[in-house]
Amino acid sequence: MSQLTMSEKVGLVTGSYGSGPILPCVGTLAAIERLNYTGLCMSDGPNGVNRQDSVSVFASGITVAATWDRRLIYERGLALGEEFRMKGVHVLLGYVNDSALHSQILDSQPCRPSTGPMGRHPRGGRGWEGFGPDPYLAGVAMNESVTGIEATGVQTSSKHYIGNEQETQRNPSTKDDGTVIEAISANIDDRTLHELYLWPFANAVRAGTASVMCAYSRFDQTYSCASSEILSTILKEELAFPGYVVSDFGATHSTVDFAEGGLDMEMPGNVTAAGFPCYFGDKLLEAVQANKVSEERLEDMARRVMTPYFRLHQDKDFPEIDPATGPVLFVTQLGHVQVPSMAGMFTEVPALDVRADHARGIRELGAAGTVLLKNVNGTLPLTNQTSFALFGNGLPDPTVGSAYVPAAEDVPEGFEFGTLDIGGGSGSVRHTNLVSPLEAIRTKVKALGGRVQLLFDNNEIAAGRFTTIYPTPQVCLLFLKAWATEGADRPDLNLQWNATKAVESTAALCPNTIVVTHGPGVVLMPWADNENVTAILAAHYPGEEIGNSITDVLWGTVEPSGRLPYSIPKDEADAGPPILVVPENTTDPGAWTEDFVEGQMIDYRYFDANSGKEPLYEFGYGLSYTEFDMEPGLNVQLMGGSLNQRVNKSMGIAPGGMVDLWTNVAVVTVNVTNTGGRAGSAVPQLYVSLPQDTTSPGTPVKVLRGFNKLHLRKGETKQATFELLRRDLSYWDVQEKEWVIPRGQITLLSGFSSKDLRANTTISV
Ligand code: BGC
Repeated sequence: MSQLTMSEKVGLVTGSYGSGPILPCVGTLAAIERLNYTGLCMSDGPNGVNRQDSVSVFASGITVAATWDRRLIYERGLALGEEFRMKGVHVLLGYVNDSALHSQILDSQPCRPSTGPMGRHPRGGRGWEGFGPDPYLAGVAMNESVTGIEATGVQTSSKHYIGNEQETQRNPSTKDDGTVIEAISANIDDRTLHELYLWPFANAVRAGTASVMCAYSRFDQTYSCASSEILSTILKEELAFPGYVVSDFGATHSTVDFAEGGLDMEMPGNVTAAGFPCYFGDKLLEAVQANKVSEERLEDMARRVMTPYFRLHQDKDFPEIDPATGPVLFVTQLGHVQVPSMAGMFTEVPALDVRADHARGIRELGAAGTVLLKNVNGTLPLTNQTSFALFGNGLPDPTVGSAYVPAAEDVPEGFEFGTLDIGGGSGSVRHTNLVSPLEAIRTKVKALGGRVQLLFDNNEIAAGRFTTIYPTPQVCLLFLKAWATEGADRPDLNLQWNATKAVESTAALCPNTIVVTHGPGVVLMPWADNENVTAILAAHYPGEEIGNSITDVLWGTVEPSGRLPYSIPKDEADAGPPILVVPENTTDPGAWTEDFVEGQMIDYRYFDANSGKEPLYEFGYGLSYTEFDMEPGLNVQLMGGSLNQRVNKSMGIAPGGMVDLWTNVAVVTVNVTNTGGRAGSAVPQLYVSLPQDTTSPGTPVKVLRGFNKLHLRKGETKQATFELLRRDLSYWDVQEKEWVIPRGQITLLSGFSSKDLRANTTISV
């Protein structure tokens, strides 16, 4: 720090075109050559190296959450980190609760609408990028992802902080008369903020996330990237976050308020071609010189940016950026057509292939994140059938090519024909390899000596035009899909392309109809009870091995060990608060304001709180090819012999918050037995029910606070162990502004889903 000039410090906190070996990445910090500082290259995103070639397309966040498997999540993080590192990318933008847009670097329009969600609205366009609406499960996934990625020396940026739950109006817009209509404001009460939306970020900070990306949207009427409440007070003081806050791209709207509010780095910064005004750079320098932003604050910003660079040894042996980065981004991906001035600026060079053997792990995780929702009379796994119908537009390779990054407004429904292994926007990844379900299943059936009959057009299927089908197949496999992308919220929760009718008419033809869905999370299944639909698999967005992963599950080479990381409601009325839409003719700059009045009651917490409401399939649910049982009694061991209500402050504070919050206060165990006919994985879950009478109103009936994934041989019994931390038994006391374990009886419940509870006990303070 002592060697840096003031303008170098400003350079450390403002994106630019870069220099030296660093070609323009999606976000770039210039090198400081005299000090051998290489600068930083940032790239999206959570599911693979975005806008690059010769990279792997990994499973999306929601698939990852559906595995409930810490090992797989960590290993995905490691493999992701390796690919970013080999490409020379210092910072992976994203865990997690969302992601972004393709053409912003060169886009001449100012901001586009779009967000970063937990899943308050299942229709949110980016829910698939994150780990679903349960903070505990998302927190575990954050921890494993950040740890895995950073073990490779790559920085993570956890995003989008915070409450960026819908794409619609995620950014401000300007009316013809110049009136600025501000971005949506998420008004979240303090308790809900702490117990729901902030929770996974605390895990990320504790795991060492290098940076946090503040959201486009507003929080409590102030832009997230300028909110001293959420950035300075909560993130940096309460959670003791030592890294830097980077703005989402174009989310900075002024200099002093944002710098003083707690923003540490502006992106994309001083890159005029990006079409965003730059508020740091020279303007920040002037503000510091004029004492409008203190020099200490600038020092703090620069130090925060430098810290992870040195902590992760990025000053030593970090690979140079792949020379194909520029060509892929500016020529191939965006094309001369959109940006004629870029034609010829980059020469095509072969991309460095960084995929190694990652396809193996992608295949494994894709299967492990597949949830078996229905399986009548052991329909699955398939056995010795030889005659198959392969129906549905989700089967073949996409007819639009293999990079799904077009802006949402161009393709509101995605593309019609082709498998969907990932969503769109900045969280998407260009495919170098893709194994479609058609390819994998056809290969499998051929090897078994069987035949397949094909019909991809959902409209033909829906209309019942099965004239080409003879004989009637023994098994009809129907592949349906739902598209989701950054930049727009989903129009509804249905599978697309006439899917409902396609199921009905396939089922009318075929008494053994198996439906496979590929989608971003919640999709409605009004046909689930149709008796000719004998099996349903929710396969999410599993990444490039999509065909192999599903084939492994269908034939039982691998069990479907996923469990729902969300609830599937019977209809949209029970799918969370609606997306806020303000009439276009509004002239009120603050019209886009959303009070999160439901508090914590989203997903299973909503169903628990409304006893008359039943989901179709509940959070935590998923069948196996075997059966499991659980002993009715839970054993609890309190670590200190008893529980103190209050945090022991003398233990101090460290990244993640008060150290004592992370103390293991109780260990709960229960025996689980495989009572079925083959080996399989059980996912015993632990829920905590805090007393209603000694907590403030708004306490959920129960919350997930532990899970195991136990592989059990036929007949085998194993012990599930849940370690409860102090924070797992605490609620956020808004008066005292601290976590407190409530007085009275706390009930612990364990089972195989949020509704299938088999064992319980109580503890008390
Ligand atoms: C997205 C971010 C992304 C950034 C850079 C934004 O539009 O919201 O998630 O990291 O673009 O591509």
